[in-house]
Amino acid sequence: MILNGNNITKEYTRRGETFPAVNKADFFAWSGDYTVIFGESGSGKSTLLNALAGISAPTSGSIEIDGQPLYSLDDESLSKLRNERIGYIPQNTACLPVFTVTENIELAASLYKRRVDKDQVKSLLKKLGIEHLADEYPANLSGGELRRVSIARALVNNPDLIIADEPTSNLDEDNSRKVFSLFGRLAKAGVAIVVATHDRTAFGYSNRVYHMKLGSLIPDIGEYGNL
Ligand SMILES: Nc1ncnc2c1ncn2[C@@H]1O[C@H](COP(=O)(O)OP(=O)(O)OP(=O)(O)O)[C@@H](O)[C@H]1O
Ligand SMILES: [Mg+2]
Repeated sequence: MILNGNNITKEYTRRGETFPAVNKADFFAWSGDYTVIFGESGSGKSTLLNALAGISAPTSGSIEIDGQPLYSLDDESLSKLRNERIGYIPQNTACLPVFTVTENIELAASLYKRRVDKDQVKSLLKKLGIEHLADEYPANLSGGELRRVSIARALVNNPDLIIADEPTSNLDEDNSRKVFSLFGRLAKAGVAIVVATHDRTAFGYSNRVYHMKLGSLIPDIGEYGNL
């Protein structure tokens, strides 16, 4: 799997003024890469991740997965590709309130596939330390528990690209480490991981670091200089 983004710019207009939330960013990730994007609030991380995940088309520039330009696909093909290949963990956890934890996770798997692997769902919940909440409803879960449900939901289809927007924002250090090391194991198994985060715990696990500043994506060659 190769994710290749070139010259990505995403402009927003606010009160009549247009500004680039992401400004000419180049980004690539191979199978097995574990990339962390660090940047202050408002620097454009979520905007970039949404573009890379096929959720929101950039104003200009290209994003390709294995040579396939994402935004030249029609809506249905793009959602199928996203469902099958991309595990996206949004910054704001959104679970459907009328379904249990397990059902919320199974939904993602059943969208395009007929069979849901119940054992896999259980094992994901266990790895994330929320197996005891399998039959609870989202309203009865804490923020950090909900966060872990959305992580399980992103992993259930065995994606070959995981795009995670502050996946540990509501988690304590112990649980953050669990998540980052789970991503590490997946990267070793060949999954490409892209994480935007404020959580410095992530640095110990990744093999590539970028900084995002005012919409510009800058490869890290300093303290964590591992490019
Ligand atoms: N739909 C929108 N319309 C207009 N401006 C937007 C929109 N979404 C985001 N922005 C602006 O674009 C910039 C980048 O936002 P973005 O959400 O990508 O930042 P971020 O780095 O993810 O921040 P955080 O760490 O707080 O999540 C910010 O200035 C934000 O206010
Ligand atoms: Mg964000």
